[in-house]
Amino acid sequence: MALRNIVIEGDEILRKRSREVTSIDDRIITLLDDMLETMRSKEGVGIAAPQVGVLKRIFIVEVDGIIYELINPEIIEKTGSRIEDEACLSVPSLVGVVERPTYVKIKGLNRKGEEVVYEGNDLVAKAFCHEYDHLDGILFIDKATDIRELE
Ligand code: CO
Repeated sequence: MALRNIVIEGDEILRKRSREVTSIDDRIITLLDDMLETMRSKEGVGIAAPQVGVLKRIFIVEVDGIIYELINPEIIEKTGSRIEDEACLSVPSLVGVVERPTYVKIKGLNRKGEEVVYEGNDLVAKAFCHEYDHLDGILFIDKATDIRELE
């Protein structure tokens, strides 16, 4: 595993739509391992492939010791509403308030190519939505109100 550089807001890579993964090869497995290590090194709860400069539809969320690794994710259900502070490894100096669902059901592929379905509440639901947005070139600052400097 290796740490990768985090792409910072202002780089147009973060604004592009990521492409579907067509085959899960060794490079994808290495990418997943590196993304997890990189996210943990920054104490993040989520990371998307474009944040390490790879325009593929992949993200990882880790909350309470549970790792959710998703390839070609698709949000299939969302309910509720919660308005809360949000931040991003690619926008290191800012925090802002974003409305997100309180429950999200999402499906995708795991690293073995098997279809998986995950359900998440609160922080997990928020992270699923935040990371999913990255795959479409959307950052939390596009949706946030009360954006302010992180202390
Ligand atoms: Co982010």
